[in-house]
Amino acid sequence: LTSTAIALGLAITASAASADCDDGEMVIKFSHVTNTDKHPKGIAAELLRTRVNEEMDGTACMEVYPNSTLYDDDKLLEAMLQGDVQLGAPSLSKFETFTKVFRIFDLPFMFKNMEAVDAFQNSENGQEMMSSMERRGLAGLAFWHNGLKQFSANKPLLMPEDAEGLKFRVQPSDVLVAQMEAIGASPQKMAFSEVYGALQQGVVDGQENTWSNTLGQKYYEVQDGITETNHGLLDYMVVASVDWLDSLDDDVREQFLTILQEVTEERNAAIAEVDAAARQGVLDAGGTIRELTPEQREAWVEAMKPVWEQFTADVGQENIDAAQEINA
Ligand code: LMR
Repeated sequence: LTSTAIALGLAITASAASADCDDGEMVIKFSHVTNTDKHPKGIAAELLRTRVNEEMDGTACMEVYPNSTLYDDDKLLEAMLQGDVQLGAPSLSKFETFTKVFRIFDLPFMFKNMEAVDAFQNSENGQEMMSSMERRGLAGLAFWHNGLKQFSANKPLLMPEDAEGLKFRVQPSDVLVAQMEAIGASPQKMAFSEVYGALQQGVVDGQENTWSNTLGQKYYEVQDGITETNHGLLDYMVVASVDWLDSLDDDVREQFLTILQEVTEERNAAIAEVDAAARQGVLDAGGTIRELTPEQREAWVEAMKPVWEQFTADVGQENIDAAQEINA
């Protein structure tokens, strides 16, 4: 970073970060789609970058490309398999073509809170899922938290019927398509980078996302309000290609994976704080948040939970049972 950039207080961008890379250092490009400020993924990626660049100086150098500046999520995994990018952390909904077991994370009302998500991911069942894409060339390295999702639309949503006939953007996941169809809405798969414009132009009426994405993408500007449904999960899998991982010297791989593990533990433990700050950020920015009565929430549960049956074979009854035991 030049002294001018520091004097101007510029945020560290990918190009500034790459200026830190020396000849002979292995460059690790980390591409993701969200913003960096007050965002769980942005914060975790930046911490990982800082630690790798300090502790592996001379050996490795990480560059982070946020905000879909390098790849959209739909291009990332192919680019990774080609060796054009080394690291990413797409949401668990974006691995459809690589594994079906992650569908458990999209099933509505599967986890009652983020502690339950954390416990499940760290259980034997959850840990086994990390290797579910290895035969397709992808190595799952860590689960990173974002949080539970909320619904928003261009009209108030208090009961599932309010969503009937509305068009909703969903991530590219068949579970999320089924979930929206269960409440009579019409789902449209769309890249994250296009959602704000689509809401603004009325291409879609509503969407579902976490507090940090609602804040980062300013959805509250183009929606009537956000309904606090906490109906589903949006979490991430940090991934690399098996080929890239295998190409590293044992000690380099071990050092890198240790740093990643420590960053994961530190940032996942802080998720409640980041999520609450983002929710507050939405309010501070003038967004409307609607809370549900227990009866209203129950109506959403009743409307959407039957979707589980359609996907039990994909995710495994034993995994659903394990998740529900943790919830109990
Ligand atoms: C989305 O597409 O809504 C999210 O997966 C974006 C993200 O990475 O949080």
